[in-house]
Order: sequence, then structure tokens, then C-alpha cells
Amino acid sequence: MNNIPTVMILFGGSGDLAHRKIYPALFNLYRRNVIHDNFAVIGTARRPWSHEYLREQVAQAVHESWEEVDEAQLTEFASHFYYQSHDVTNVEHYVTLKQLAQELDERYECGGNRIFYMAMAPSFFGTIAEHIADQHLTGTGFNRLVVEKPFGTDLASAEVLNQQIRNSFAEDQVFRIDHYLGKEMVQNILPLRFGNSLFKRIWNADAVKNVQVTLAERLGVEARGDYYNNSGALRDMVQNHIMQIITLLAMPEPKDLSDKAIHAAKEDLLASLVIPDEKAVSENIIRGQYLGTETTFEYVKEPNVAEDSKTETYVAGRLEFSKGPLAGVPVYFRTGKEMREKKTRVDVVFKDEAGLYGDKAKTNVLTIEIDPVNQVYFRLNGKIVAGGDLRLERFRYRYSEDEQAEVPDGYERLIHDVFVNDSTNFTKWEELKQYWRFVDAVEAAWQKQNAAGEKPVKYRPYGMGPDTSKILADPEDGWIYK
Ligand code: BG6
Repeated sequence: MNNIPTVMILFGGSGDLAHRKIYPALFNLYRRNVIHDNFAVIGTARRPWSHEYLREQVAQAVHESWEEVDEAQLTEFASHFYYQSHDVTNVEHYVTLKQLAQELDERYECGGNRIFYMAMAPSFFGTIAEHIADQHLTGTGFNRLVVEKPFGTDLASAEVLNQQIRNSFAEDQVFRIDHYLGKEMVQNILPLRFGNSLFKRIWNADAVKNVQVTLAERLGVEARGDYYNNSGALRDMVQNHIMQIITLLAMPEPKDLSDKAIHAAKEDLLASLVIPDEKAVSENIIRGQYLGTETTFEYVKEPNVAEDSKTETYVAGRLEFSKGPLAGVPVYFRTGKEMREKKTRVDVVFKDEAGLYGDKAKTNVLTIEIDPVNQVYFRLNGKIVAGGDLRLERFRYRYSEDEQAEVPDGYERLIHDVFVNDSTNFTKWEELKQYWRFVDAVEAAWQKQNAAGEKPVKYRPYGMGPDTSKILADPEDGWIYK
């Protein structure tokens, strides 16, 4: 689809996310003609910027992200940006915003289409949503709302926020961003599962021994202590990214590839997510906190983190579903800051069969690497050269450098999907609700543990985190990615 007429109102126009991700993505969509003559973006934030200053910022952001830029094209693109200084709690400001949106709508012939994008501190999402409703900011064409994470801090707050949003937007107009759903290899999970009869036939509890999801990060919390200390690894990475990946791995086959069918299959699965009680949390979930090194801070010494903070910078656990193709199969997950290296991957571990080759035949594993390299490999046994013994081999495919260069940034892909109204790769309310139920149960158990004086386990930075053997039913095999 080309040149989709839209006025976008971006809350958080002076922010880091807009600069690093949204402006460069919009520029590429402009180059690709998804938006062109009939669009305007109103950037809002508290700072007193001018239109001109915002345009300079947009141009700078584009330069920082893209090497080859046609300057005339960039100037033309940036001329569609307008700045409105905005205090989200001030009702008057929404009136001004509405007038500007209407003016721009007429000037650029946008047909009353609006995209509202919440890219700022989440504590304001609810207020903005309310004022969009009470000041009638929505247009006469299509209206869509893009919301960044975190969507609430628990189920109760997410429900309140959702209600506030639903005053102006129906569920199918809400695009809750999970940037992992924009990643190439995350989008490859369904094609791998349902495009190959080989995997389709063995993707079940008879053949799969366990599933392992690892989201390891090398970086610490850096300057985000304020946010992170109230969040922790569970809310920051498990509630959204890890849960979405697991959902794609465990959901039943959708009826077709429409966004409705895919979300229906996800919902089906998630209704059977086993919510752990206190005992299960203490047996199946481990939380950790990183120590310092000579050159890096221990977590509790990071800026804006309390000395006695019990926030986890690492979490590993085991969960399962009671229905779906992998019903009863253990799903292991882990994520942490200051781990050995950046690595995002999934390992699907198949059951061993006693056979002619005994122990010499090793476990088959399908690995999907999401970051830093887009690749898929299948571990299997073959014979050694000129001998009878076995050795492990890999069937592998990865993208060529040229293909790799073509992979769009996750944000560009997701913002594109908002323009074309494709909600496949966004989090629906029913999914989010189940994710929060799981996270709330874990948090509640941890609160009790805290009250009893228990703390996250300290771990040495730049390794693989705390000892996780207690959650692994089969510590001998353990994690495939060690
Ligand atoms: C974000 C988290 O959602 O994802 C960050 O808030 C984390 O803490 C980031 O670093 C990781 O994303 P990516 O794409 O670098 O793996």
C-alpha cells in the first residue's frame, strides 16, 4: 500500500526512542512510499522546541541511522514534522493539539486518519488516553493507537489502563508494541513450525523433551536504574518478549495466517498456561542479581538503585501449558543483565530414543538464533569420516550478507504494520492478561520470600548467571546453550 494519508501524533517526540527508532523508521517508510505527500507528524513533549528545531532533530536522527541519505528528500520529509509543546496533564493543551491536527489534516489531505503513538513515560499513558477521549482528539477516518511497553506494572494496573484506552479505541485499533515481534527470526517461528511437515509432525509432547529460551544481555542496567529497579528482569523481559516467543513456540496451528486466526490460536494456548503457586515458584523460578567487578558496579551500587534493593537482574524458570501441542512439556527460560554475551536463542530439544547406537547418538536439537545472528540449525548425528562412530553435525541456514542487509529494523516493520493495519505482530489484550497473571503470581511469591528474608542470588557478572540446576528436571543435559 502506498502513500497512506495520516496525521501521526507522537507523545514523546523529544525522547530517545523517537530519536533512535521512530524517526529513522518513518524516514524509511517515506523512502518506500508507504507514507509520502499526505502525512504529517506532530511531535509533542514538554520542552519548548520549535517546528524548525524538531525538523533538525529528525534530520539528525536519520543521519545517525542511515548511511546513504538523499538530502533533498530528507528536507522534504522533515518538512512534514510539527512540534507542539505539551503538558500531558493540561486539558487546554489537548485542545490546541486537536486544532493543529485538524489544520494539518486539511493541509496534507489526510482524510481524518490519525495514529496516536505513546512513546513516553508509561505513567502518563492513562492520562493521555483519557484526554484523547474527553477532548475528542480522534479523527473522522481511521484511528489507531500505538502503545509502548510496559503496559501496566501488574494485571490490576494494566486493566485500568486498558479501560482508559477503550474509551476511545476498540481492541482492534490498539497496537501494543513488543519489539521482539518485529525481529526476523521471531517472525520465522511460525513458518518453520508450520511450513515444514518434518517439524509439524514432531512438534508434540511425544517427541519434544523440552524447550529452552535464552535472552542473555551483556549490558547492565546503565542509566536506567530508576525504571529498572521498579521493574526487574521478570517484568522487563519475561512478561513480554519471553512470553511472546514461548507463545509462538507452543501455540496450536492457526486456521489460517490472518491476524485474527493467529491471535485466536495464541489465546487458546494461553488459557492453559499453568499459573504457579508459591511452592511452584520457589521450586521452579530462580532470581539473581549481579555483583560488581573492578570496573563495573554491583547492581545495588548502580545510580538510582537502593542499597538493599531486591530487584532481580536475572531470572530463570520453568513453565508449562496444560493444552496445545506441547502440553506438559517443560519450557525453560532465562534472561539476565551482565551475562557472558548478547545471545537470544531458542533450543527445541527432542527426546532420545534407545537405539542401535546407544549413547553415541546424541540428542537432536533445533536451534533458532534470534540475535546477534539470524540463523537456524538442527543438530543431528552422522558417521565420522572413514569410521563407524558417530559425530554431531549441524544442518544450518543463515542469511547471506546481502540478505542480512535487507532485514528491516524491527521498529520499521512494526510501524509499517500499523500503517497497513496488520496487528499480527502486536500483543492483544487477552495475551497480555495471561502474561500478567503469570508474572503477578511470581511477584506475589517473591514478596513473601522477601518478607521471610530471602533475596535474589548474587551472581558473578559476565558469566551465565546463578546456578539453575534446581529447575532443570534433567541437570545432566542441562541447558543446550552453556
Ligand atoms: C527492552 C528492555 O524491552 O529490551 C531492555 O527494556 C532490554 O532492558 C531490551 O535491554 C533488549 O532488546 P534487544 O532488542 O536489544 O534484545
